[in-house]
Amino acid sequence: MPLPNLGRIHIVGSGAIGSLIAVGAQHNNIAYSLSPRRADQLTQRLITYSGQSILLNQNLPEPEKLAETDLLIMPVKAHQLAQAAAQWQPRIQDNTPVLLVHNGMGGLESVREVLKKQPIYLATTSHGAMKINQHEVKHTGFGRTMVGEAPDNRNGSGEQSEMVMKVLSRCLQPVTWQEDIERALWTKLAINAVINPLTAIYDITNGKLDSLQFRGQIGDICDEVAQVAQACKIDLTSDFLKENVQLIIANTANNYSSMHQDISAKRTSENDAINGFIVKQAEKKGIDVPVNTFLHNKIKSLEKNYS
Ligand code: PAF
Repeated sequence: MPLPNLGRIHIVGSGAIGSLIAVGAQHNNIAYSLSPRRADQLTQRLITYSGQSILLNQNLPEPEKLAETDLLIMPVKAHQLAQAAAQWQPRIQDNTPVLLVHNGMGGLESVREVLKKQPIYLATTSHGAMKINQHEVKHTGFGRTMVGEAPDNRNGSGEQSEMVMKVLSRCLQPVTWQEDIERALWTKLAINAVINPLTAIYDITNGKLDSLQFRGQIGDICDEVAQVAQACKIDLTSDFLKENVQLIIANTANNYSSMHQDISAKRTSENDAINGFIVKQAEKKGIDVPVNTFLHNKIKSLEKNYS
């Protein structure tokens, strides 16, 4: 059944998570458009978690203008957000809701520089998905999604929040609404700070991190993230982070993390928004984070080696 008060959803980029959202929309009869950054990158097929093949054959043409009943979804990397926001800014209304879904931190700040008035929502998901070629995406790990209003939300109304929640519940389920989305984002940050660099450096799937060899490093990364989070007034303990990290390692065991995929494909990874963000915040607070610093530098050096 179509959702009341919803026009269309517009998904920026045609990456793994954006494509998952598009399939969810198609399955639920929600009108959507998926706008790849390059026309030859458009996802046309998704292999579901259970192995079913679904053609994305209801993709609408890219809109000229978005209405306030539309929803702009930006599942692109943190470092691509500023440019994507600038590109869409002339096409949206002051009260068109915008939903950000990305790993790491700092995305809201860069989008806010451009979209000064729009109501912004933030989501984080632990679903694993990967682009297996230019036109196909595979859903590799079943996760869950959390969404809430950005702390600086300007024009958001209860009705709009409900609409965003309903869309995501259909497109990236299961979804929970978070009054304190920042805590959820920091939890996901810890998950990414562990899984992403370690899988990229050791060239392994997420599941391989469930071995004694990595226990110590995982513990150290979580201790450092918890310390920095607490200094930023986010109420998180290291034990809680470790528990969550182990859960996602188990749930996405066969997945190659997004950073592993980026490094293998010689693309810029989300390193600066993940371990780099922790290092920066730690510096500001005068906290020593040697393991995150090492991982941030190691991934930077891998990126430098691209020929
Ligand atoms: O970045 C990723 O790959 C994902 O956020 C996650 C949850 C770690 C699964 O691989």
